[in-house]
Amino acid sequence: MNETDLKSFDLNGFVVQEGALTEANIDSLLERIAQFEKTEYPGHVLEKHGNSYRAFHGCHLYDAHFEELTRLPQMLGPAEQILKEQVYIHQLKVNLKQAFSGEMWPWHQDYIYWKKEDQIPTDAIVSVMIFLDDVTEFNGPLFFIPKSQNLGCIDTNKAPDSPEGWEGNVSATLTYQVDEDTVSALVKDGGLFSATGKKGTAVWFHGNLVHASPPNISPNARRLVILTYNAISNTPGAQIPSAKQRPEFLNGRDRAALNMLERVSLLG
Ligand code: SIN
Ligand code: MN
Repeated sequence: MNETDLKSFDLNGFVVQEGALTEANIDSLLERIAQFEKTEYPGHVLEKHGNSYRAFHGCHLYDAHFEELTRLPQMLGPAEQILKEQVYIHQLKVNLKQAFSGEMWPWHQDYIYWKKEDQIPTDAIVSVMIFLDDVTEFNGPLFFIPKSQNLGCIDTNKAPDSPEGWEGNVSATLTYQVDEDTVSALVKDGGLFSATGKKGTAVWFHGNLVHASPPNISPNARRLVILTYNAISNTPGAQIPSAKQRPEFLNGRDRAALNMLERVSLLG
C-alpha cells in the first residue's frame, strides 16, 4: 500500500484497491464456496427466510485455499502497514448476498462486537473485504460514512429484536446498531460512500467505520470475503473461559503472528 493509500485510510477510514486478486484466484475461491454450500460446517448461517446461505464464517479453519488467502502479500502486507506491527486473523467470513434473496445489514460498527463479545482491548484491528463478484449499486454494496471512525466506538444497547447469542451478531437484525440520529449527524458531516467495484477489488476499512448494506433484489449475487486482522499487541488479555467465548469461527484462537506466503500454490 502506498503513502497516498495509507493517508486516505487514515483520513476517511477506508481505502479501495483495485485488482488485489486475479480471475484465477477468484475462480478457485468460488469453487471452494460451491463445495461449502453442499456441506454442513459450524459457522454457516442462513438468511432469515431459511432458503439461502447468508454467510460462511471461519473458512480458513477448514479450507487451505482460504488459509492461503490470509497470508497473501497483498493482504497481509497492508494489514501490517496499517497496524504497524505483526498480525493474526481474528475473523474471516464469506458474505454471500445471493441473487434475489440476500438480506440487509443495518447501520453498525464492527469493533463494538470485538470489544464487547471478544474482549479485544483497542481498535488496532482492521478489515479488508475482497469482491468475488462485480459489486454495483444494484446488488447490495456496502455503504460507508467517511470519517465516521473518528467518533470512536459508539456505545449502544442491544437491539431488543435481535436473536440471542452469536447468531444475533451476524443476522439482519444485528445486536449492536447505530441509531438513526447518529447516522444522520454523521452523514451530514461525512456524506455517504458506496463501496462498488470490479471483482478482485479490495476495500480496507477501520473497525469503527459506520457502515450498512441494503438487500440484494437483483439477479446478480454479491459474494465477498472479509478478513479481519488484529495487531498482536491487541490480543485479548485475561480471558473468559473458552466455553463462554464466541465460537472460534467468530473469535480466532490462533493468535500467533502470520507469516507472509512465499509462493502461491492453491489459489490459481
Ligand atoms: C458487514 O457489515 O460485516 C457485512 C455487510 C455486508 O456483507 O453487506
Ligand atoms: Mn460490519
